[in-house]
Amino acid sequence: MAINWYPGHMHKAQREIRKILGEVDLFIEVLDARIPYSSENPMIAQIRGDKPCIKILNKCDLADPATTELWLDYFRQSKNTDAIAVSAKTPASLRNIIELCKTMAPNRNQPGKPVRALIAGIPNVGKSTTINILANRIIAKTGNEPAVTKSQQRINIGDGVILYDTPGMLWPKVENENSGYRLAITGAIKETAFDLDDIATYAAEYLTEAYPQALKERYKLDEFADNGYDTLELIGRKRGCLRAGGRVEMNKAAKILLTELRDMQIAPITMETPTMCIAEQKEVDAR
Ligand code: G4P
Repeated sequence: MAINWYPGHMHKAQREIRKILGEVDLFIEVLDARIPYSSENPMIAQIRGDKPCIKILNKCDLADPATTELWLDYFRQSKNTDAIAVSAKTPASLRNIIELCKTMAPNRNQPGKPVRALIAGIPNVGKSTTINILANRIIAKTGNEPAVTKSQQRINIGDGVILYDTPGMLWPKVENENSGYRLAITGAIKETAFDLDDIATYAAEYLTEAYPQALKERYKLDEFADNGYDTLELIGRKRGCLRAGGRVEMNKAAKILLTELRDMQIAPITMETPTMCIAEQKEVDAR
């Protein structure tokens, strides 16, 4: 599943960031803790060079805590990089971001020399929510859509830190097709952009491997079928998504699985692990 974002807008975002790069002490990249690899923006790695970077694993309330720990360790192995797991549901967890900014830019953080942090994130990772909590007020969104003209803005969040907010920082296409699926499953990509049954089949396949017990319990399944599509059919049958003649309405079953997965009714779930993503990235690089 190849996903194309708005290419023209992406170049504009890139130009804007390059313009202010000299003023910025560090990068903050907001990620979705359920898909830390797939919600990363490869453009950040290209632009940031050696500047310090804080990876914020937001929405950690929805993610599997054990896998979040693996991701934090993984990111911390990169040069000049630290990582922190937060949730907008517990705003106090976000205060640690400010301290981390100061630690990572020790030559700033003096009177008249605030830390200047560029904050970026693909749409829907919770960047605006994060900024609003840190600033303790509602800040207008920068434009994620081509039609929205508002671009970069500076936000003084007090405590000696200024955030440079950027538009959604979209990337041209998701080269790893698995990432496309996971972005769709978590809701980062609108449902109109993909085939619901296909996405739910992918989700069912992953869940039978990674969270078999939680899936069985949620849908009262004794066993799984031997592929994701048929397991989705079993789920539909259990939930009464039946047409005349007893055939399962797959679209309805898909909606149920995806909605309950996103609403954390199955379990706190992370859709990818570092080991999985390292292997997938190797395949993408070898193409
Ligand atoms: P963005 O700027 O990166 O595009 O994302 P935004 O802050 O608008 O957040 C996208 C959605 O994610 C919002 O839900 C927001 O409430 C939710 N969200 C943000 N942070 C967290 C978090 O840590 N945990 C959970 N569970 N949800 C989070 P929405 O349904 O689109 O909007 P709304 O119903 O909150 O208005």
